[in-house]
Amino acid sequence: MTRPDLAVETTRGVIQFGAGSWGMSWLGKIEQSAHFELRALIEPVAGAREAALAAGVAPDLCFGGLDEALAAGVEAQVGVVVTPPATHLAVAHEAMEAGLDLLVEKPLADTLESARELVDRAEELGRRLMVSQNYRFKRAPRTVQRLVTEGAVGRIEQVRIVYQKDPPFADFRVQMDEPVIIDMAVHHLDQIRGLLGLEPVRLRARSWNPSWSRFRGNASALIEMETAEGVQIIYTGSWCSTGAETTWDGEWDIQGERGGILWRQNQVRLSFTSVFDTVFLPGAHERDGTMDVDLDPVPLEERAGVLGELHAALDEERVPETHGRDNLRSLALVLAAVESARADGAFVELAPTEATAGK
Ligand SMILES: NC(=O)c1ccc[n+]([C@@H]2O[C@H](COP(=O)([O-])OP(=O)(O)OC[C@H]3O[C@@H](n4cnc5c(N)ncnc54)[C@H](O)[C@@H]3O)[C@@H](O)[C@H]2O)c1
Repeated sequence: MTRPDLAVETTRGVIQFGAGSWGMSWLGKIEQSAHFELRALIEPVAGAREAALAAGVAPDLCFGGLDEALAAGVEAQVGVVVTPPATHLAVAHEAMEAGLDLLVEKPLADTLESARELVDRAEELGRRLMVSQNYRFKRAPRTVQRLVTEGAVGRIEQVRIVYQKDPPFADFRVQMDEPVIIDMAVHHLDQIRGLLGLEPVRLRARSWNPSWSRFRGNASALIEMETAEGVQIIYTGSWCSTGAETTWDGEWDIQGERGGILWRQNQVRLSFTSVFDTVFLPGAHERDGTMDVDLDPVPLEERAGVLGELHAALDEERVPETHGRDNLRSLALVLAAVESARADGAFVELAPTEATAGK
């Protein structure tokens, strides 16, 4: 297999925090990267450490705490935080103080105050802080982003996103108050910003929990958002769908003045209001009056793409895409949705500081 990341030779040592379900799959991503090498795995729960050992992690890489790893002489440049959201603040703080640049799993923190504290501290210490919004780093979303940037359908004024799955989670998510908004919609709300370039300034939300839900908190939600330019975005998400499942990205119907972009099931399709637009479009072919768009090649996808971007940003001494300050805005949307849902759908305006956080 061709490894596009092999061309560059820098390898940075990684300390990974958390060996839960997602953490275990992160280990493989780090192993496959030519840019990063695991130097330590920090996991306070003995049973999870044993599972990591049983899965093949070398015993001299497993530690119960960062202090133990540092005392053992572990040297690294980057921390990868894959612990539950409520622990991100403490874990990331400790890692930054130990000199590590950081890649933190979404959501950056469980409160905006904690997230701001982390971002401010990273800037004070001169550390890079990237949030793993891996959903941006895939072929279909990058294709949608290009079409929007090129103005393929003109000015966008209405967007509808439907996401529904029934994932068999039995972990911290089952106990969260608003699992689908906080742990899942953060991807989609971040995609609205990162791919469509839309920045909602007000929203209202409702959430509910069907009787069959395995979650204690609300596992279904509706979020209506509006940008300063008046673009209307309607999002529905569910983690207890008994209906047909969407992909993890959900299904996106993006409508502009000249036509629509339909993104579903990893296919991107354009429809135009003028028949003349369907005659020819480079990289697309007509089917049933709409244009199927070839997906743009992306050399490194999903978390490999996140690692590739972090590596490039560190080499080039710039902030990475989905850096911490940008991510405050995505998190602010999520927490505003929670606030609105708790207030029975009252509108919530986003504070101007958050509205410009990513700029
Ligand atoms: N980007 C994605 O697509 C995606 C997918 C799944 C999970 N996640 C995120 O990854 C994070 C972890 O999720 P998960 O499903 O692996 O959770 P999990 O509960 O399965 O595992 C978390 C692990 O972190 C450990 N931990 C707790 N405190 C720690 C500390 N102080 N230091 C080191 N380890 C500690 C726990 O013991 C546990 O083993 C969450 O933020 C979640 O939202 C992201």
